[in-house]
Amino acid sequence: MTSTLPATEARPSGFVPYRDPSFTTAERVDDLLSRMTVEEKIGQMLQLDARDDLQDHILRRRAGSILHTSPERILEANRLTAETRLQIPLLVGEDCIHGHSFWPGATIYPTQLGMAASWDADLIERVARATAEEVAATGVHWTFSPVLCIARDLRWGRISETFGEDPYLIGELASAMVRGYQGDGLDDPTAILATAKHFAGYSETQGGRDASEADISRRKLRSWFLPPFERVAREGCRTFMLGYQSTDGVPITVNDWLLSEVLRGEWGYTGTLITDWDNVGRMVWEQKVQPDYAHAAAAAVKAGNDMIMTTPLFYEGALEAVAAGLLAEDDFDDAVARILTIKFDLGLFENPRLPQAELDAVVGSAEHADLNLEIARRSIVLLENDGTLPLASSASSPLRVALVGPLADDAQTQLGDWAGGSGQAGWLDGQPREMITTVLDGLSAIDGWTVEHARGADILTLAPDPLGATFPDGQPRPPLVVPSQPDQRMLDEAVAAAEASDVVVAVVGDRIELVGEGRSTATLELIGGQNALLDAMIATGKPVVVVLLASKPLVLPPSVAQAAAVLWAANPGMLGGQAIAEVIAGQVEPSGRLPISFARHVGQQPTYYNQLRGQHGDRYADLTQAPAWVFGEGRSYTTVEYADLTVARTEVGLQDDIVAEVTVSNTGERPVRETVQLYVRDLVTSVSWADKELKAYRHVDLAPGESARVGIRLPVAECTIVDAAGLRRVEPGAFEVLVGPSSRNSDLLSAGFEVR
Ligand code: NOJ
Repeated sequence: MTSTLPATEARPSGFVPYRDPSFTTAERVDDLLSRMTVEEKIGQMLQLDARDDLQDHILRRRAGSILHTSPERILEANRLTAETRLQIPLLVGEDCIHGHSFWPGATIYPTQLGMAASWDADLIERVARATAEEVAATGVHWTFSPVLCIARDLRWGRISETFGEDPYLIGELASAMVRGYQGDGLDDPTAILATAKHFAGYSETQGGRDASEADISRRKLRSWFLPPFERVAREGCRTFMLGYQSTDGVPITVNDWLLSEVLRGEWGYTGTLITDWDNVGRMVWEQKVQPDYAHAAAAAVKAGNDMIMTTPLFYEGALEAVAAGLLAEDDFDDAVARILTIKFDLGLFENPRLPQAELDAVVGSAEHADLNLEIARRSIVLLENDGTLPLASSASSPLRVALVGPLADDAQTQLGDWAGGSGQAGWLDGQPREMITTVLDGLSAIDGWTVEHARGADILTLAPDPLGATFPDGQPRPPLVVPSQPDQRMLDEAVAAAEASDVVVAVVGDRIELVGEGRSTATLELIGGQNALLDAMIATGKPVVVVLLASKPLVLPPSVAQAAAVLWAANPGMLGGQAIAEVIAGQVEPSGRLPISFARHVGQQPTYYNQLRGQHGDRYADLTQAPAWVFGEGRSYTTVEYADLTVARTEVGLQDDIVAEVTVSNTGERPVRETVQLYVRDLVTSVSWADKELKAYRHVDLAPGESARVGIRLPVAECTIVDAAGLRRVEPGAFEVLVGPSSRNSDLLSAGFEVR
């Protein structure tokens, strides 16, 4: 577009185009950039922690953005911005990961991994939309969500933030979440910026250790880790966050191949890049690949980073870099232009989108609670059931339930990481108790049941780390986790409750101290007295329903093989307790499917289903390699049969579609929402490849006795591999389409087709 701005010499005095919304964003950006000093440009690139000295951030370092802002500090920050020379509005960012995490009274949904178990992109889009409405009402413009990392080693503390282990499912769900956040475009007052993170390969840890080097080839990145990112980049996700880690010795922050060649080049991405927390500083103090902040700042700017999260010394470092000739004054222009573009597109110069007076009508609304209950129900996965579930009771014989376990009534733990009590924000300890239903609340509300609650076990206590309360850079060091010992008195109480009841519901899992950044675990077993509690419950001979309320797949003790049923509810959000109780009581059909495999033993890591072909055998000498429960698995309260898989044409060209059809029948006595999964197997590939990959799925609702012919169309162009040269392409030859209820080979029907 040609500029309509008058030439500088022809402008009347007092003419300030950047303040005039009748000009285009590009014109306003140009104008504002031309007025900025180098100090203002450098400051504009900074996103600083609002819990620190706001005056220093905004008036001295001229920060363009803040994060981790309590409700009061948003107003204070905006008041300070009005004192600056150009009054460039602040961008306010926050980790609104599964709801508006740190806003008191906001709706907190199941974690991303929990939501992924619904396999329902439309529902997740609605959750993201509702989250955006709450977030936008509170003066926050930007959420650092969704996470597109692929879950690999389950010991990693951030598994619960992912959509699981499959790149296709991640792409579907992440794309939906981005659409939900960004709404109809940034001029929509309820739209917020989405962030695709952590670009890329961050989850490929060493031994599950957070932010350790991702030892990963470019080809492997292109094969599995990049596709979800490419998808949301092309679909217009406005920001990308760069991971902490190094790959092949190069921190992502300065990885020219990934940032310039792939993201900006091949994918044509024009959005804004933000570093992760102190990525620039950690090149100096942690990774030690830069001698000082001047060099680190210069490297980060040259690599194309736009916003620098929480490296306050970037300001001084960048100024020094200019003085030393490492950077030119206009080297900041591209980054600043991209940040200003966002601010103009959001309309912040006209309306800084401060917290709204009527926000209480939106935040934590009844409508959002309904949506929360819907996704909580859909996120629960029934892993085992000997027919005990759903629990029946009648007026003549009311059910007596012994509810045991340390998580049966632990409201804040149920919310998981990135929620009020998870510790990242200092201004709240948790979300209001009255907004949360625990399993105790949920079961107690079921008509005709009596519930006797006995805790039965503790999980852990905390001890100070002898190395001190902070890391060398001043950040807090998490305390040590000390597993609790089984407590005989608590066990006796639980056994007594079980013996006096018809059925035991045991709620076990993990706590926030075992989840999150810097909280990877060496083991996957239940911590503390929980295994002893499960053993004792099974030994009573009563039917035991195990509810695993765990942020990530954990390993259950051998006694659980004799449990009547096992349910997994990854931190299921505020209404998780109600949803779990409804499923147990059969008021709601279980419909969740695993977005991630469960290991039998920590030593099996990694356990994801789409591993490369070509290893010797399928066992360790001392254990099978088979996971306990596989990707895609999940039961319902009925039986479902698959039959008569056909493909419309068995010889297809590269431009064609494969149309698979299968008959799915509900052969039991209860309704079902079945997730019909379609995998593709490329029989011979030029390089080693996964034996099968999920390519599509459909939900189908069937009444008892009902059958449906389910058709799934898949473009042949999706049947790709990444060849030795790193090119993604379809290799002609023989393929199989596999359709069924899980990724387990024995669950899948197969039909061949040939690509010419
Ligand atoms: C570090 C985390 O890695 C990232 O996911 C998060 O968005 C930022 N901190 C901000 O809290």
